[in-house]
Amino acid sequence: MSEVKRGKFIVFEGLDGSGKGTQIRMLEKKLTDRGRSVTLTAEPTDTALGGMIRDALAGNHMRTPSELAALFLADRVQHNADPKKGIISLLSAGKDVICDRYYFSSFAYQGIDTDLDWVMEMNLDSPDILKPDICIFLDVDPDVCMQRIDSSRAFTEIYEKASTLKRIRSRFFEVFERLKDIENIKIIDAARSPEEIASDIERIIFSL
Ligand code: TYD
Repeated sequence: MSEVKRGKFIVFEGLDGSGKGTQIRMLEKKLTDRGRSVTLTAEPTDTALGGMIRDALAGNHMRTPSELAALFLADRVQHNADPKKGIISLLSAGKDVICDRYYFSSFAYQGIDTDLDWVMEMNLDSPDILKPDICIFLDVDPDVCMQRIDSSRAFTEIYEKASTLKRIRSRFFEVFERLKDIENIKIIDAARSPEEIASDIERIIFSL
């Protein structure tokens, strides 16, 4: 019997309001059109742990930045290891996995308020957290992101302030610089039309 070829693990990152959802759906269609089997997933997940995190992000339950970093870590370990829906088992079954946010978000978001080295080490050194094949970062001006958030939602989460998003964007770039030799990170100018952005992403993914 021939062995199943492992799927590709593709991560999308970007500020809130950077258009990840649109690009993820466009890429999913392009991959499925080419006969690939794709699973979309996201962090925080829809598990009990993810629910605790969302409560904190909504401001309903105060958590320290370190508590949040640890909750995201636990959520990510479970997200990898779940025997049915986990990233590792999906990839082994030959599916491509597109994940909306991953450990780069922990570095950039929790990394602005707690010790960045600690957050990076516990994620990157975890034996249960898989390294993605690629991270696509959709780069949009934080002020534009904030306008999109304000016009599309009635409430905002704890990080959704222009000044905070600016600090998070700087952290993303600092982290990408630190990881440039060990991670496959592509920064995309996402201030263009969805079609232009999608065609750049398609080129990158199909040359993986
Ligand atoms: P969410 O409302 O799910 O949507 P979106 O990804 O489209 O913005 O937001 C998730 C929030 O969680 C977002 O503000 C970033 C934050 N986050 C972290 O702070 N750390 C993490 O490790 C992850 C995965 C997300």
